[in-house]
Amino acid sequence: MATVLIIGAGGVGNVVVRKCAQVPEVFDRIILASRTVSKCRAIAEQIDRPIEVEALDADDVAQTVALIRKHKPDLVVNVALPYQDLAIMDACLETGVHYLDTANYEPPDVAKFEYKWQWAYQDRYAAKGIMALLGSGFDPGVTNVFCAYAQKHHFDEVHSVDIVDCNAGQHGQAFATNFNPEINIREITQKGRYWQDGRWLEIDPMSLSQDIDYPEVGPRRSYLLYHEELESLVKHIRGLQRIRFWMTFGEEYLTHLRVLQNIGMTRIDPVDFQGHKIVPLQFLKALLPDPGSLGATYEGKTCIGCIIEGVQGGKPHRLMIYNVCDHAACYREVGAQAVSYTTGVPAMIGAKMILTGTWSGQGVFHMEQFDPDPFMDALNRHGLPWKVLADDAVPRLSR
Ligand SMILES: NC(=O)c1ccc[n+]([C@@H]2O[C@H](COP(=O)([O-])OP(=O)(O)OC[C@H]3O[C@@H](n4cnc5c(N)ncnc54)[C@H](OP(=O)(O)O)[C@@H]3O)[C@@H](O)[C@H]2O)c1
Repeated sequence: MATVLIIGAGGVGNVVVRKCAQVPEVFDRIILASRTVSKCRAIAEQIDRPIEVEALDADDVAQTVALIRKHKPDLVVNVALPYQDLAIMDACLETGVHYLDTANYEPPDVAKFEYKWQWAYQDRYAAKGIMALLGSGFDPGVTNVFCAYAQKHHFDEVHSVDIVDCNAGQHGQAFATNFNPEINIREITQKGRYWQDGRWLEIDPMSLSQDIDYPEVGPRRSYLLYHEELESLVKHIRGLQRIRFWMTFGEEYLTHLRVLQNIGMTRIDPVDFQGHKIVPLQFLKALLPDPGSLGATYEGKTCIGCIIEGVQGGKPHRLMIYNVCDHAACYREVGAQAVSYTTGVPAMIGAKMILTGTWSGQGVFHMEQFDPDPFMDALNRHGLPWKVLADDAVPRLSR
C-alpha cells in the first residue's frame, strides 16, 4: 500500500489518476497537484474514490518540497510539462522520494530535448538511495520495453529498430495537437535525427517519409522525426546498427503547420505586442483546442510499435511488437482520447513497478534497463494489450 503524488492535471494526468484509482491494492492514497487546482477538482469529481487535490507551481522547488513533506508520498509522478522535470527531480532529491516522468527535460527558451540534464542526477540519486524512472509513457516508455522484450526473448543480436507511431484517428477539428500543443509543435518542427553505424545523422524537418502498412489500420504516410528514446536505446540495446523513429501526419495537419511556421506563429522567442512581450507559440496554444477536450468526438485507432531486425539462432529474423488502441473505447473508460490514454496507462504501470519493488534501483534509469516481462504482463491487464508479428508478416519499410 503506497501514497502517490501526481503532478499535472492535463490530458495525461487525468488518465494516470483514473488508472491508479483502479488499482487500490497498490495506490492506497492519491494526491493530484497542479498549477490550476480547479482542473484537479474536475478530475477528482469523476472518480468514485477520494482523490486529494492541491495547488502547486512545480517550477518552485520549495513549494514541491513542502507538499512532499506534507503528504509523505512514496513516489512522485511528474505528468506536468518537460520544463518542470529538473525542478521536480530536485524536490524529490531533497526529500528522498522516488521520481517518474514521461518526457525528458526541455529548457523553455531552446527547442532542444536530450537526457544529459537528467543523467546528471545519477550519482546524487544513487547516494540518496532513490530512483528516477525516465520516460514511462508510450513512446518513450512502452517502445523501450518492447525493445528490451525483443532483445530478451527473440534475438541473439538486434541490428535495427524502427519505432513506428500511427494515429489514424479523426477528432473533427481543422487543426489540433494530441498532447500539449507547445511541446508537440516544438518536437516536430525540429530537425529529424537518427542513429546509424555509430553516429547521429541529421535531416531537414519532415524531409524523409514513406508509407508504412500499420496492422489493423493500413498504409499511412510516416515521417522520420527525432525522438528522445533513441538516445537511451542506443546505449542499452546490444549490437544495434541503426535506430529511427517514424510518425504519421495527415496532409491537412502538415499544411496548417507549414502556414503557422511561415507566419511566425511557432516561434518560441518573445516578441513585442502592444507593449507586452508574448511568445507566439504560447499564444497559439491558448487558441488551439485543449487536447484533453478532443476525446468526446475522436474516432479511429492508434497503432504504435517497434519493427526490429536482427539475428536469432544464426538466421535473420524480423519482428513487430505493437499495440492498437481505439480512441472511442478510451473515452468510454476514462474520458480521454487514445494519445493521453497510451501515455497515462504506462505511467501508472511504471509507478506500480516501483511501488511494488518489482523494478528497483538507486540512480537514474530508463525503461529498457529493467526486466520487461512484468511490465509486458501489466500492459495486457491494464488496457494496452500488445501483439507480435514475425518475419514475412512484419510490414516492410521501403527505405
Ligand atoms: N511518453 C509519451 O508517450 C508521451 C506522450 C504524450 C505526452 N507526453 C508528456 O506528458 C506530459 C503531459 O502532457 P499533457 O498532454 O497532459 O499536457 P497538458 O494537457 O498541457 O497538461 C499539463 C499539465 O501540467 C500543468 N502544469 C504546467 N506547468 C506547471 C507547473 N509549473 N506546476 C504545476 N503544474 C503545471 C498544467 O497546468 P495548467 O492546466 O494550469 O496549465 C496542466 O494541467 C508532457 O510532458 C508531455 O510531453 C508523453
